[in-house]
Amino acid sequence: MALLDIKVYGDPVLRKVAEPVTEFGPELEKLAADMLETMEKGDGIGLAAPQVGLSIRFLVIGLPEEVDGERTMRILTMANPEIVAESEELATCEEGCLSLPEINVQVDRPEAVTVEYQDLKGEKRVLEAEGMLAVVVQHEMDHLDGVLITDYLPPLKRTLMRGKLKKLSEQ
Ligand code: CO
Repeated sequence: MALLDIKVYGDPVLRKVAEPVTEFGPELEKLAADMLETMEKGDGIGLAAPQVGLSIRFLVIGLPEEVDGERTMRILTMANPEIVAESEELATCEEGCLSLPEINVQVDRPEAVTVEYQDLKGEKRVLEAEGMLAVVVQHEMDHLDGVLITDYLPPLKRTLMRGKLKKLSEQ
């Protein structure tokens, strides 16, 4: 496994609409392992391929969870995810992003979503997500369309944050 370089706000790759994944197999498996390691090192719970400079529709999630009193981690690797159903109810969460260090934004998103995707072998799968998992998967899917949490800021807050963002983009 290898640590990958995380692209920060201002890098144009973060604003691109990513291309579908068409090749499955060992190379994608290696990318998934490297992205999970990079995510964990950065204390993140999700990472999308554009954040490591690859404009493809691929993301990883590593969400701590407790099963029968034991702390484990739920790991998901998703290629070409599509939301096929979402709840009308919204939930608000204060989100951070490894590409936007030290910035948190309150984002409203559907509380629950159903996502169709392909696994590392290209097999079709369905994820029913709610709670934190729904937040993470929607956040990471935004990255595949070039959308960042700061895009959800109301105009006044965005204006107030302009200096901070400019600094980030100049790093
Ligand atoms: Co992010």
